[in-house]
This record gives sequence, structure tokens and C-alpha cells, in this order.
Amino acid sequence: MLRLAAVVALFALYADPLLTDSCCTETFGGLVLSTQFWDTYTGLEAQGQVLPKDTWTLHGLWPDFCNGSYTQYCDLDRQYDPAPSPNTTTGTPSGTPVPPYKGPSISTFLEPFGKQDLLAYMNKYWISQGSPNGNFWGHEFSKHGTCYSTFDLPCYGPQYRKHEEVVDFFETAVMYYQTLPTYRWLAEKSIRPCNTTTYSLKDLQHALTEGFGALPYVGCSGPRYNATAAGKGSSDNGMTVVSEVWYYHHVLGRVQNGRARPVDASINGASVSNCAKTHGALHYYERTPGCVKMPKVIR
Ligand SMILES: *[C@@H]1O[C@H](CO)[C@@H](O)[C@H](O)[C@H]1NC(C)=O
Ligand SMILES: *[C@@H]1O[C@H](CO)[C@@H](O)[C@H](O)[C@H]1NC(C)=O
Ligand SMILES: *[C@@H]1O[C@H](CO)[C@@H](O)[C@H](O)[C@H]1NC(C)=O
Ligand SMILES: *[C@@H]1O[C@H](CO)[C@@H](O)[C@H](O)[C@H]1NC(C)=O
Repeated sequence: MLRLAAVVALFALYADPLLTDSCCTETFGGLVLSTQFWDTYTGLEAQGQVLPKDTWTLHGLWPDFCNGSYTQYCDLDRQYDPAPSPNTTTGTPSGTPVPPYKGPSISTFLEPFGKQDLLAYMNKYWISQGSPNGNFWGHEFSKHGTCYSTFDLPCYGPQYRKHEEVVDFFETAVMYYQTLPTYRWLAEKSIRPCNTTTYSLKDLQHALTEGFGALPYVGCSGPRYNATAAGKGSSDNGMTVVSEVWYYHHVLGRVQNGRARPVDASINGASVSNCAKTHGALHYYERTPGCVKMPKVIR
């Protein structure tokens, strides 16, 4: 008995890189991406689902591997996404099918925890396009949230209350989002939504790098530059409508603690943007008519 204790104590003196408490340190994906959208409409305005004024919206908080790949729908017992996308765990027909969720919206999971303020915040800033917000949150939690080690059920101990980790995930995603004022960082460099002008990728990258402290991924949608009239004959086939920013972090300890260090999106060796690179090729579309005029005095 005593000898065994001595042996255990001796072992504890040595570091073992294979032994990590995966509840204290994220062991699944080492890169944490806080992602945001710029949309001009939700499609559900009639139901009161509207975009907030002068701010990008929250997309998600994703755990990527350091080599740029990632896993999705990691725990099908916690599948709350009514419209899984992709519909298998690998995105190919050979993957495990992800069954559509038919239960009550994940938004109802917050009520027993008395999280009305969190729910109100999410309904203001975590906005879906084309589906109710709750469906989108269910998608983000089940596709990405279940792929963290630190949001896994054993980490919540014997006092675990059902869906506690869902609330924890939402609070954490909101916490990261609140540190990343994309709209303001761009506006400070006079990059404002405007339908009558265009912008350059380089200028967006400079503005966001200055604000964040590292280069984020800038995502575009819409037509490819050389498929538009402006880009006819060009070899630049990047897309032209600014729509997403992904902020990469290395985190110290649990992602929940918020101790994160910005890292360049190039850290995984992949492309840092799918947008057109040609000067003045990008549209940053406005939501409400009339481009915002620059205030005369900037303090
Ligand atoms: C990326 O890293 C993960 C985690 O170490 C590993 O499982 C996966 O096979 C790697 N993928 C590639 C393409 O190297
Ligand atoms: C996934 O979607 C594809 C394309 O719509 C469809 O062909 C396939 O049957 C679906 N697979 C599952 C498991 O639902
Ligand atoms: C657009 O650019 C790509 C890549 O340079 C090229 O392969 C393609 O032919 C171009 N398309 C048009 C319509 O010019
Ligand atoms: C700006 O242009 C986009 C894309 O064409 C459009 O969806 C949006 O409604 C326009 N906004 C205004 C205020 O005209």
C-alpha cells in the first residue's frame, strides 16, 4: 500500500506530455476561431428577426486543429440542429448520418438556468439568415460546440445539470464576440458599408490586423471578380461581397476562461481570404439606405 503510494508520488514528479487534463486544457482542436457575419437582411424580418445596427453579428466559436482541419458533429447524443449541414459527420456519403433534430429549440434550454439576459443578447447579436435564430444556435453548438474537450460532459462533474454545457458554450461564444468590434475597427479606417463605393482587401486586412493584433481570415461571397463587369478579362477569381471574418486564437487553459492570444489566420498554412485581391474589387453592402457620412469632428 505504502509502496504503491510512493511509486505514484514518484511518477507525479515527472512531466508526461501524453497526460493532459482535457477538461483544463483544450485537447481536441488547438485553434479557436471566433467568427462573425456581415449580412444585409435576415429573411425573417416580418417575424421580428432583424439585424442589429452598426455591428457585425456572431457566427460561432470553432475548435480547429492546428493543421487547419476540423471535426464536426462530434457527439450525436447532443444533436440539436434541425437541419444538419453537412448531413454526415464527414460531409461525404461514407460518414455517419447526422439525423435532423426534432425536439424543442435549443433556445428553450436557457430558461431553466434563468438566462433571459443571455437569450436577449443572443437574439440581438447572434442572428440567423433564413431560419429562426434558435435553429442556427443549435447548429453551431452541435456541429462545433460538441467538438471541444472542455465543453464535454465529464468536465461538469457530479453536479451536472442537463444542458449546462450548452449555456456555457453560448456564454463563451458571446464573451469572445464582445472583444471583437469588427464594425468599429473598419469604420475607424473609413471602411463603412456603402453601396456606391468599393473597397480593397488589403485595406480591410490592415484595419482588422491593427484592431485585433493579428491577421484574421476575411471571407467573401457573391460573384467572382472576373465574372463581374468590373473584372471582365481579369484572372482574379476571388469573390466580391465582404461577408465574414474569422479571428484565430491560441487559448491558455479552458477556452471558457477567455485567456486567448490572437494568431494570424495563416498559422494553419491555408489561404487567409477567398476575396478578390484586385484594388477596389470588394463591396461592403449597406443595410439601410444612404451611406453613413463621416462625422466632421472625430474625437
Ligand atoms: C490534422 O490534425 C489532426 C489532429 O492532430 C489529425 O487527426 C488529422 O489527421 C490531421 N489532418 C491532416 C490533413 O494532416
Ligand atoms: C445527404 O444529402 C445528400 C444530398 O442532398 C443526399 O443525397 C444524401 O442522401 C443525404 N444523406 C443522408 C444520410 O441524409
Ligand atoms: C477567372 O479566373 C480564373 C483563374 O485565374 C480563370 O481560370 C478563369 O478562366 C477566369 N474566368 C473568366 C470568366 O475570365
Ligand atoms: C445595397 O446593395 C445590396 C446588394 O445589392 C442590397 O441587398 C441592399 O439592399 C442595398 N442596400 C440599400 C440600402 O440599398
